[in-house]
Amino acid sequence: MNAPTKTHRKILVTQALPYANAPLHLGHILEAVQTDVWVRFQNILGNECLFFCADDTHGTPVMLKAKELGITPEELVKKIHSDHKETYKLYNIGFTNFHTTHSEENKKLSEHIYLKAKDNNLITRRTIEQLYDEKESMFLSDRFVKGSCPKCNELDQHADGCNKCGATYDIKEIKDPISVISGTKPITKESEHIFFDLPKKLDVLKEFLSTADLQKPISNKLSEWLNDDLQQWDISRDAPYFGFKIPGEDNKYFYVWVDAPIGYMASMDNWASANGRTMKELWSDSSEYEIYHFIGKDIAYFHGLFWPALLSAANFKLPDGVYVHGFLTINGEKMSKSKGTGILAKEFASLCDPETLRYYLSAKLNNKVEDIDLNFEDYAQRVNSDLVGKYLNIASRCSLFIKKNNYELSKSINKELIDKLILSRESIEEHYETRNYSKAIRSIMDLADIVNKYINDEMPWKKEQEEAAFIASSALNAFNILTIYLRPILPKLTEEAFKFLNNNKISFLDVSEELTNNINDYKPLLQRIDPIIIPEEEAMTNDNNYINIDEFSAVDLRVARIIEASLVEGADKLLQLKLDVGELGERQVFAGIKKAYDPDTLKEKLVILVSNLAPRQMKFGLSEGMVLASSDDEGIYLISPDKGAKPGLRVK
Ligand code: MSP
Ligand code: ZN
Repeated sequence: MNAPTKTHRKILVTQALPYANAPLHLGHILEAVQTDVWVRFQNILGNECLFFCADDTHGTPVMLKAKELGITPEELVKKIHSDHKETYKLYNIGFTNFHTTHSEENKKLSEHIYLKAKDNNLITRRTIEQLYDEKESMFLSDRFVKGSCPKCNELDQHADGCNKCGATYDIKEIKDPISVISGTKPITKESEHIFFDLPKKLDVLKEFLSTADLQKPISNKLSEWLNDDLQQWDISRDAPYFGFKIPGEDNKYFYVWVDAPIGYMASMDNWASANGRTMKELWSDSSEYEIYHFIGKDIAYFHGLFWPALLSAANFKLPDGVYVHGFLTINGEKMSKSKGTGILAKEFASLCDPETLRYYLSAKLNNKVEDIDLNFEDYAQRVNSDLVGKYLNIASRCSLFIKKNNYELSKSINKELIDKLILSRESIEEHYETRNYSKAIRSIMDLADIVNKYINDEMPWKKEQEEAAFIASSALNAFNILTIYLRPILPKLTEEAFKFLNNNKISFLDVSEELTNNINDYKPLLQRIDPIIIPEEEAMTNDNNYINIDEFSAVDLRVARIIEASLVEGADKLLQLKLDVGELGERQVFAGIKKAYDPDTLKEKLVILVSNLAPRQMKFGLSEGMVLASSDDEGIYLISPDKGAKPGLRVK
């Protein structure tokens, strides 16, 4: 037997912390699967590999989302936390601990790291100018401001650059800026901010980039950023902000990207104290653990520059590697709710066995930063042909011959066949280790082909019982080895397969062990699947087009009174409505009802407003909701409540 080469490694693994403002989508599952397979593989080899994650709870989006739902941010993050946990569980993601950044542990660690940085003269302060929303009394980060391109005047552009002419600019240069939150014009206001002196960590970062395990394109990109002029990093935000207060400051909060990665440690700390372990042992300057972060390509900057600098500021060990994956696309397109491709992970798990998604994603994953496409037709074909047609087919074909043999396997088996499978162990291990799961799967399926060919050639159905049992026993031993190889990817399915085989020697180190126990009856472990069809716009509904009450309640319908209706210059279909929505204040809505209504007749009319539709910046101004109407060839009919309804009342 091969001596295990690299046992007893101690490894800490994290995956990026999902934001606590929305349920998980399939992109999150891609990352979770990539990480979970690697962690399971390490543990199967006998290493101690611990896997940590948490919800990323702080920042403006969570704050706004809670406001929109009429609950506190604390309530929102609690709700999302259980939802995220449940969803990961459906996909058999085996976290050692799934914590939250809104925790005591994280507060303590964040303060500790900040104060260390301060002691080490790495904290500076400076007054900056920022756009400010007077209506909401808050500073606006770039993503909450829109306006016209300063170069080509294209309307409705974000701070990250012009969609039309491709110009990039500072948000302060944008013309006619508008706050996406309130729809009002922001003013410029000064505020003192706190900075982390990133340039002082230049040498540490250079060293990190040359020693850590990073993919080439990532280390290249990071070096580029490093050599461009490295800026001080703004780590404070003004109230109102959902986050941790900065110690020693009035009303200043840590920017979410400070306490988010520290949340990795907080999750470890939380687990350590419950399990008689310490942070000193897990993550300190003297830690014996290797540390790896699995992340998506959009957040490499944070993990490759800010994070190691922060760690170094407080004398923590730096990560040994940052493993970056590309983005998931669906049927060739970016995920988008309106096209039915922004599929929620929970919903997808109700459409097909989550293990099959683990399989499909693994079959496409490698250690490159490439995007990965989930194509529904290919998915069904892949699962049916590989898992059902090749792998499980071996068990279902062979089990009957053994059943006829009183469930007993033959004492001798075909060594030549088995050796072929054992021989691949090292290279399959190598593929897992280097995150080339697609290659691992290709090797495993090649082996499955060999086994099926063996059965076809030997034709046990034409043989006497003893010989048939020999052939089937050989094939089932081979099936056992394939099952061992697939175990990191298919934890649940392989567990069932081992039950059928009555085998509990299931480590990679056990591939040379022959099966000795009587087997059980084979029950199909997976059905063939049909291509998934997700109707457009109905991504969240089930087969019958029903929605559940929560989905309905998510739509905030309100009685609204039309204060003013007017024509819109340059628009043939639209009327501009000013609405009184009671406790929600006034709203402006552009409604496509011009051909059916004379604006003068609309004043004082009561209508129904979808109040929590994301505001839409139109050519004519911001539309903050939608009024309900129905229509046919002859006309358009606004929906009105009965007499007595007051503006602001909820419709439910
Ligand atoms: N909260 C931050 C991460 C903080 S880590 C200290 C964040 N959250 S996120 O919810 O937006 O994304 C979580 C992870 O999912 C990130 O690694 C991100 O790259 C990944 N993905 C988000 N959309 C994705 C796809 N469409 N495809 C694959 N991964 C994607 O960023
Ligand atoms: Zn432009």
